[in-house]
Amino acid sequence: MAKDKSTYVCTDCGAEFSRWLGQCNECKAWNTISEFRQAKAPARSGNFSGFAGINDEKVQTLDSIDLAELPRFSSGFAEFDRVLGGGIVPGSAILIGGEPGAGKSTLLLQTMCALAESMPALYITGEESLQQVAMRAKRLGLPTSKLKMLSETSVENICHIAEKEKPKIVVIDSIQVMHMSDIQSAPGSVSQVRESAAYLTRFAKQHHVAMLLVGHVTKDGSLAGPKVLEHCIDCSIMLEGSNDSRYRTLRGNKNRFGAVNELGVFAMTGSGLKEVKNPSAIFLSRSDEQTPGSVVMVLWEGTRPLLVEIQALVDHSALGNPRRVAVGADQNRLSMLLAILHRHGGLQMNDQDVFVNVVGGVKVTETSIDLALILALVSSFRDNALPQDLVVFGEVGLSGEIRPVPSGQERINEAAKHGFKRAIVPFNNMPKHKIDGMEIIGVKKLSEALEVI
Ligand code: TYD
Ligand code: MG
Repeated sequence: MAKDKSTYVCTDCGAEFSRWLGQCNECKAWNTISEFRQAKAPARSGNFSGFAGINDEKVQTLDSIDLAELPRFSSGFAEFDRVLGGGIVPGSAILIGGEPGAGKSTLLLQTMCALAESMPALYITGEESLQQVAMRAKRLGLPTSKLKMLSETSVENICHIAEKEKPKIVVIDSIQVMHMSDIQSAPGSVSQVRESAAYLTRFAKQHHVAMLLVGHVTKDGSLAGPKVLEHCIDCSIMLEGSNDSRYRTLRGNKNRFGAVNELGVFAMTGSGLKEVKNPSAIFLSRSDEQTPGSVVMVLWEGTRPLLVEIQALVDHSALGNPRRVAVGADQNRLSMLLAILHRHGGLQMNDQDVFVNVVGGVKVTETSIDLALILALVSSFRDNALPQDLVVFGEVGLSGEIRPVPSGQERINEAAKHGFKRAIVPFNNMPKHKIDGMEIIGVKKLSEALEVI
């Protein structure tokens, strides 16, 4: 009989190796490699014509495939639907990741209680007791009479029960406590998490059940990170936000049924998660006083613009190696912008500590932050406040040129909607028609932007 094969998998990046290593060759993380026992593949004869039950009728052209089963259903939260690309697709496996305490269980309990009113729904809790979940549902004032609950951690049992109950949607909270009997390692190990998720995903596909898997992301490598699951599930979304901030953002990392990089915004309140319909308004709630080092920019998040405030603090450094700290923005980008500012703006910050922060815990990965960061830095350096009604966006190139960014017109419209009167934007993003009550300055070079302020 063939022996079970072992491979070694990095829990951070999912890379596979044939032997154990202290450091992952791919992502260079230490102590993240753990053993993963592959289940035996069923024995097959090498003779292909010997396969029974396979016929060429299974081969179809793309246009002949029946799409009737694809209509999505709403989760009840417009922000959640947006991140999923328009709703939940029956038969899809969706991973909801986040740090413990982010509010994954709360979000799913609210969703499931509402959905259970119109379709059979099953909530599997492996972490909390049934009483705990029931108490929470009662405290949140959710409709509880229709939702089926089960406290179980064996994947085989769950699938067996789900086959009988025939739910349309199942929540597994969480994938890290699930286990399968024919895998030796402990729940939470890479092999258990991977095999459990693969088994549940197969079940979802075969029975047209939407499967929502909760996955904890931990900073230490003690639990398998959801990274190792990303290839087998259809959508991966992250619920982010620290415990001390009221706001939680839901962001898609991977979505087979829609665009990624959509952002859903929720507020954690005393009565559970509430949708935030106008996120620009919350990220912008700042004082009326003009302060140096603060500027508002317009981000493009998936399919909509978002106004956020960028803050910078430039202060004389007592260190030989001044500090460069970026919260919510890319550190390397900050260093690059400081070099551009020196070379093309004539401003030297070598002896200054530089801190930048994106207000509200937003993480900006877009290049349109460049111009806003530079203007915030200059404003703080010169201790000169920028006007409150100014909004800025644009990419800055290495030779000091200001490059256009996508969706310039929509960004300007969003700023106008929120009462901004002035905008500094890349010249190529200048709108063709005048916008009432808004003065728009198009700049081609960094020096022009610095002159304007
Ligand atoms: P939870 O959904 O249990 O997090 P996860 O499942 O992602 O680990 O959320 C727990 C946090 O949410 C906890 O810190 C308390 C907070 N919370 C509220 O502030 N209000 C509420 O109504 C609820 C249910 C939770
Ligand atoms: Mg939980």
